[in-house]
Amino acid sequence: MSGDDGPNAPDGRSAWTRDHAAELRRDETNVAPIIYPPADGLDEDLHVWDTWWLRDRDGSPAEVDGYRVILALTSSSDLLPGKRHDVATLRYFYSTDGKFWETGGRVFETGMLGSRQWAGSALHDDGDVYVYYTAAGEADEADLSYSQRIALAEGGTISPGDDGDGVELDGPWEHSVLLEPDGEWYEREAQSRGMTYTFRDPWFFEDEDGETYLLFEANTPVPEGSDACGGDAAQQEFNGSVGLAHSPTGDPTDFELRPPLLDAVCVNQELERPHLVVREGTYYLFVSSHHHTFAPGVEGYDALYGFAADGLRGEYEPLNGHGMVLTNPANAPFQAYSWLAYDHGDELLVTSFFNYFDYDRPSMDDVALLLEDEQMRRFGGTLAPTVRVGLDGRETRILGTLGHGHLPLAREALPADPFAGADGAG
Ligand code: FRU
Repeated sequence: MSGDDGPNAPDGRSAWTRDHAAELRRDETNVAPIIYPPADGLDEDLHVWDTWWLRDRDGSPAEVDGYRVILALTSSSDLLPGKRHDVATLRYFYSTDGKFWETGGRVFETGMLGSRQWAGSALHDDGDVYVYYTAAGEADEADLSYSQRIALAEGGTISPGDDGDGVELDGPWEHSVLLEPDGEWYEREAQSRGMTYTFRDPWFFEDEDGETYLLFEANTPVPEGSDACGGDAAQQEFNGSVGLAHSPTGDPTDFELRPPLLDAVCVNQELERPHLVVREGTYYLFVSSHHHTFAPGVEGYDALYGFAADGLRGEYEPLNGHGMVLTNPANAPFQAYSWLAYDHGDELLVTSFFNYFDYDRPSMDDVALLLEDEQMRRFGGTLAPTVRVGLDGRETRILGTLGHGHLPLAREALPADPFAGADGAG
């Protein structure tokens, strides 16, 4: 366990410490511009939140028959937004230009594990599609539970649509549980002492040496009476980690747990949707986290956080000294969430979804109210503008934005004026 163990614990995990997090602050390098609702959202019948793109083995967005494809958690837009997690359904969307997206439909019709499906990743490999997802709850449960397992659907294919238009992502899918927490490196539900444990958001990653991994969101077990966090029991409940599993053969269906890459014991409970960008031998590890999942005494933000190391196993150091790369403006502190970064030439491009916003109720005192009263929140429920981020060694700076949901491929140049692409529709 880390926490008080210092940056590199004996099993090689790095630590995000309270000293790092004490330096977190909004400044001119890390606050994204205010988001206004797009003229056309992704799909007016759907709430859309966590989104990821179909990727090739090297991690770049795949192009299939001229289309790029995204998968997203969705629900009917008739629902109150807070209810959406309880019924989350995976849908896919496709686009020829990475700007205007057509709804493809549900990814799975039957056979999926859990009572609903949460975030994951999707691999396009030689025509085959593998969808890694979180099976949340149990199939057919009477009362909603919060158990989480890392699941795989294999056997999918993607092919041109029937009428020659678009693409179809089709089964038959074979669903299986890939990973469950072991209770040693990764906390099980029964060990959880604070907020609900996490074991979710699998992210496929092939390293430059060809080794194949899954990253995921998890927690480090901290038993009662532990001396972590100087013995402070309240802080010990905040134990988020970035988990790792390795495929010994490179088979994308077969993974074994390894020790976490990093944890945030005494700092933060949820290191969500972990993913990596590797640039010239530096491993950039990114996670999303919330204001409300920081431990007592640490002031954090709904933000994208990043860490850098010289190798996959670390030692990871927070970017910009504290870790924050991109956050929401103070007068719309929850406007976007669930960021994903990918490499594009000299820049990082960061996608996310348009979350809660309310320009008339800006102060943090109002936040509790916003969170309590579903009717008072305004929910974006569509893709947010893609943010352009400059990366210089271990420092980052927001450069500008593209349109809502814009997903450029490597061959597509970005506008020279960093805000010139901001008006594209979702
Ligand atoms: C982040 C997240 C993910 C999870 C999903 C559930 O937005 O908490 O970790 O998979 O939302 O809706």
